[in-house]
Amino acid sequence: MKIALGADHGAFELKEALKQYVEEKGMEAVDFGCFSKESVDYPKYAYAAASAVAEGACDFGIICCTTGLGVSMAANKVKGVRAAVCTNEMLAEMTRRHNNANVICLGQNVVSEELAKKMVDIFLSTEFEGGRHQRRVDLLTDIENGVRLQP
Ligand code: RB5
Repeated sequence: MKIALGADHGAFELKEALKQYVEEKGMEAVDFGCFSKESVDYPKYAYAAASAVAEGACDFGIICCTTGLGVSMAANKVKGVRAAVCTNEMLAEMTRRHNNANVICLGQNVVSEELAKKMVDIFLSTEFEGGRHQRRVDLLTDIENGVRLQP
């Protein structure tokens, strides 16, 4: 499995730890930066990692910033990306089962490294349920494509 990683300076350490973690688990990590704690702009790194997932170059993405919020906003603007900020194990599981999320967003100042690793394990090993959830995910794609959804 190929994992795209991205982070800004606010989560450089978490990204480095998760990169090592996924490699230890036998997966390939593709690191889109940043590469130091020097201040950078999170949309650029979120966009790079999210685009790799959207284009099929990577299977999933792990994108981090101080809160997880900014990178999730950026990632979700990339067509084909379903990015979810996760702060506990249940969210990491449910966003795979119901939303077919392909990017997990984590905040270095929000979750511990230990919890982040647990969420990554769950996120990468949980299958999408499909069924009625497929219809809903298809509606998300419709929004991307400019369809004006009716309630
Ligand atoms: C950077 O200071 C911080 O704004 C960023 O890491 C992120 O949390 C934004 O949402």
